[in-house]
Amino acid sequence: MLMNNKTAISQFLLLGLPIPREHQHLFYALFLAMYLTTVLGNLIIIILIILDSHLHTPMYLFLSNLSFSDLCFSSVTMPKLLQNMQTQDTSISYSSCLTQMYFLLVFGDLESFLLLVMAYDRYVAICFPLHYTSIMSLKLCVYLVLMSWVFNFLYSMLHTLLLARLSFCEDNVIRHFFCDISALLKLSCSDIHINELMILVLGGLIMVIPFLLIVVSYVQIVSSILKISSARVIQKIFSTCGSHLSVVSLFYGTIFGLYLCPSANNSTVKETVMAMMCTVVTPMLNPFIYSLRNKDMKEALIRVLFKKKISL
Ligand SMILES: *[C@@H]1O[C@H](CO)[C@@H](O)[C@H](O)[C@H]1NC(C)=O
Repeated sequence: MLMNNKTAISQFLLLGLPIPREHQHLFYALFLAMYLTTVLGNLIIIILIILDSHLHTPMYLFLSNLSFSDLCFSSVTMPKLLQNMQTQDTSISYSSCLTQMYFLLVFGDLESFLLLVMAYDRYVAICFPLHYTSIMSLKLCVYLVLMSWVFNFLYSMLHTLLLARLSFCEDNVIRHFFCDISALLKLSCSDIHINELMILVLGGLIMVIPFLLIVVSYVQIVSSILKISSARVIQKIFSTCGSHLSVVSLFYGTIFGLYLCPSANNSTVKETVMAMMCTVVTPMLNPFIYSLRNKDMKEALIRVLFKKKISL
């Protein structure tokens, strides 16, 4: 009974990226540089927010969580991809593959929850400025962040357990550069109806509901901006909301591009490029969007560096 349910194969082969062999070195260098930029950029943001007490506000605490999540998100896929490109060994064990899939789900969905929490924070700050500190108490912030983490760990566990009961037969080549849940489902030789239903219903809800709530908070924000006549206040609102809105557009733009765009030929190249955008480019750009457009972050960087110099 138990033997029947066991997977027949112990490892998968990741097909990797559709890159010609003569360009492998160039792309290896490019991805390594992108990964290092992601790690460095997000680490700088986290450290800056920890070190500078001016940034100990809900908005920046959420941002440091987002950076942490970005850092983990790209660390789940990139080191393995780089290792595979370098050694030309594309195998990945069954358990590593499921682990990779699990953490990809955790950090991918966490991003949408954190963006929602940040949108709520901006909504309260702009629509109820006088009650902001009493509404966004430290207790509520910790609660919101903790809820997002716990919820995503459980939700991703559900998908992973559902996938773990499937059996896999001869075909063990994953046509992707990481263990994507849909790529794994394609390889399974068991009945995957429940898995597909869960992905469609729960996955849809988890992506669409935060998105709709973000849109609702921005509608409220815009309608309250329209009532303000002071140009300085409006400029301040734009400087704090602009970065968030850019990150939201980047994130949901790629997600919706990946899943909702009707692609006639279902080309793997398009899928790979979009997956690259999600897992590599978005986490890399987020810190830049936040630090380049944001005066507080630039000032904090100067303060932290300046303080360091004096203490030396
Ligand atoms: C995440 O946010 C919580 C609550 O705002 C904060 O206490 C915590 O330090 C943040 N964690 C990280 C890693 O930035």
